[in-house]
Amino acid sequence: MSKDYSKRDILVTNALPYANGPLHIGHLLEHIQSDIWVRYQRFQGNNCTYICGEDAHGTAIMLKAEEEGVSPEKLIEEVRISHEEDFKAFNISHDNYHTTHSDENQFYSETIFSRLKDKGLIEEKEIEQLYDTEKELFLSDRYVQGTCPHCEADKQYGDNCEVCSSTYSAIDLINPVSVLTNTKPELKKSLHLFFKLSSLKEEIKEWLNTSQVPSQALNKLSEWTEGEIKDWDISRDAPYFGFKIPGYNNKYFYVWLDAPIGYLASHKNYLDKLNRSEEFDDYWKPGSSAELYHFIGKDIMYFHALFFPAMLLKSEFRQPDGVFIHGFLTVNGEKMSKSRGTFILAKTYHQVLDPEYLRYYFAAKLGTGVGDIDINLDDFLQRVNSDVVGKFINIGSRTANFINKDFNNKLSSNLHEESIIQDFLDHASLISETYEKREFSKAIREIMVLADKANQYIDRMEPWILSKEEKNKDLVQSVCTTALNLFRLLTIMLNPVVPNLCSRVYSFLNIEEPKWNQMSELLLNHEILTYKPLLTRIEKEQIEQIKQKSKEF
Ligand code: MSP
Ligand code: ZN
Repeated sequence: MSKDYSKRDILVTNALPYANGPLHIGHLLEHIQSDIWVRYQRFQGNNCTYICGEDAHGTAIMLKAEEEGVSPEKLIEEVRISHEEDFKAFNISHDNYHTTHSDENQFYSETIFSRLKDKGLIEEKEIEQLYDTEKELFLSDRYVQGTCPHCEADKQYGDNCEVCSSTYSAIDLINPVSVLTNTKPELKKSLHLFFKLSSLKEEIKEWLNTSQVPSQALNKLSEWTEGEIKDWDISRDAPYFGFKIPGYNNKYFYVWLDAPIGYLASHKNYLDKLNRSEEFDDYWKPGSSAELYHFIGKDIMYFHALFFPAMLLKSEFRQPDGVFIHGFLTVNGEKMSKSRGTFILAKTYHQVLDPEYLRYYFAAKLGTGVGDIDINLDDFLQRVNSDVVGKFINIGSRTANFINKDFNNKLSSNLHEESIIQDFLDHASLISETYEKREFSKAIREIMVLADKANQYIDRMEPWILSKEEKNKDLVQSVCTTALNLFRLLTIMLNPVVPNLCSRVYSFLNIEEPKWNQMSELLLNHEILTYKPLLTRIEKEQIEQIKQKSKEF
């Protein structure tokens, strides 16, 4: 097949979820956000590849496996299966879902490491760290607690103090204790490998200045680039679950070195499966004309906007065009909490409610900012019921019956009001632009204004009154045909957000899924199917059920 050069080649990634626990609706915020954008791109006819996978390495996964009495390999496999089930339930359209514990990832991690080393960018340094002698393990920051060296607050972790916000190194904690064994750790020396980021300051700034990164995040990131950039410790000592560093005894790549390389690995794995391996370089060589974007949360922006681009630059791979950063999800205005029943797992949600509701709600809230996003459960119920069921679906449900009953399912051959159809078509390019810019809340607002207009049109024409008189027969048919055409246009506009609901609408309208640019092809003289309810309202009890289940898991 020859390549269509008018189409954009776009590669989109999500942060790779840690393979040590189930997904919650906070994770889904990210995947729904990117899935909407990916579906929009495909809908436009662009060639958009969407990849993800498990982040399978590191101490946390090793310890979790130990706790459960299984091998890390078994743990990550089980978690992968559960993550994939959840993504499927929420209609996340990843083209490939791989894992960082894979041959491809080992290959690219070693390749990148050796290229950095050849360029003199890897330095060996002996450092002192806290060591748990009972567990025989070097303790990373989150596994040590002690008294803050600045304000003397108790029980602070090894990197920063939650009371006075100061940052320090774990060895500066007063009276440190290992969180794992409750014993006093010892200081122990070990050789570590550092990626010399300090020498790449200008290159990092250059990338930041020329890439798509939200401005609020840029401010934070430039604080870092304006200060002293420290070299990055990329090795960990055994025991560790990860890849051994070639040429060293019992040293492993730090999980955050191989995690983003997992994007390359997952893409390679995808292309290999399709027998299209040769395309890999088209995407990943410097100067590639393909676009590369990462969707991530604000907690991991340093890795994606500083470390990873620097690694890629110095190992002869292309750098990303953009890192799209979102804020954190809060529920009812607060951090998700188990005791309040607001730590909602993906599975808990989809066992009770249709994922399309949540996709709609998130879309209605998402923009390009990095601020946190709140789901208020009462507002969720009201907003979805009023917008999706009360406005959008209502257009079909209040007009289809006439066509079904009085006209043998047949739409008229002419519209009653062309101007309203034209008005909708005129808004399509604005809505398309807002999707492209990831201003989903704005797109939803615009679409709902149109849904209101469609309902007002039906209110004004009152087909239920008209249909009482035989002389109005043709008019009723053309009014309902106009309304159902508006319904079709809104469905196309909402398609990236609620794809399953939209395909139910297309089935009812008895049409194939149209592309965005097929909007202006009207449905006239066309037979539809008998209307059946397409979506029901969210009930209060369902929300209660989710809260209850979330307290129990
Ligand atoms: N494994 C790393 C990412 C490696 S990417 C090469 C990781 N995993 S994670 O499971 O903790 O988070 C995955 C993504 O979900 C991150 O982008 C993170 O910001 C996002 N979120 C995790 N909790 C979230 C919320 N409560 N709200 C919104 N996003 C959240 O980080
Ligand atoms: Zn303090």
